[in-house]
Amino acid sequence: MLAACGSEPAPAPVAVEPGPVPETAPEATAPAPGTVVAAPDAQARAQAAMKDFAERLRGRLREAMTRDGAPAAVDFCHLEAPRIAEQVMAEHGVRLGRVAVPGRNRNPGNVAEGWLQELAVSFQAAVDTGGAPEAQVAVLREDVPPGIELRMARGIRVEAACLMCHGDNIAPEIAARLAEHYPGDRATGFKEGDLRGLIWAEVPANPGTTP
Ligand code: HEC
Repeated sequence: MLAACGSEPAPAPVAVEPGPVPETAPEATAPAPGTVVAAPDAQARAQAAMKDFAERLRGRLREAMTRDGAPAAVDFCHLEAPRIAEQVMAEHGVRLGRVAVPGRNRNPGNVAEGWLQELAVSFQAAVDTGGAPEAQVAVLREDVPPGIELRMARGIRVEAACLMCHGDNIAPEIAARLAEHYPGDRATGFKEGDLRGLIWAEVPANPGTTP
């Protein structure tokens, strides 16, 4: 579940180093500027930022749908999803975003590349063999570029509420708005329980700056 990002125990994280802080460290508060952050806190920061991003997206999308109806909510997503990401990045001092599973993106800016492309492929393979999308979690500390302390990603599950904009039977008014903003839309045809994509976060090595 989008809303559950970061709140449930991480089942099989990739390459997690053992540390004194539990993996599911609760709500991290952003460290004061200039604070030296020990390695385990980076994961808590990534988790808190991802959770905040997922919850804000979900809450604001729900509000827009209730207030203006689903076709207008397409415009909302188009304008607000990137802005919400910007806000959460600024507040948490991390980079984050969402990407689609390979070949299934709506916004061309959400194509999984590099490390996210690799993870998307392995998450998809795990889901194809029975894994739950939201149970796919990776935490990377090794092989990250200079200036980055930690990278984290989690699978996003397609829920019933997503189908009106990502499923098979898209209402004509919604389809028209989608075609207007996303002429090359490849993010329809999903089924409930599919892996839709990944939510990711990147924590800079130097707290308070983004890489
Ligand atoms: C009202 C229509 C609508 C609903 C409902 C909706 N989405 Fe989307 N979704 C969009 C639009 C529009 C975009 C493109 C946003 C952008 O331009 O950044 C998008 C993009 C995404 C992306 C980014 C990857 C990509 O292909 O661009 C993910 C992941 C995603 N949606 C998941 C979900 C999930 C999971 C749900 C259900 C919890 C959901 N969406 C419900 C309209 C919707």
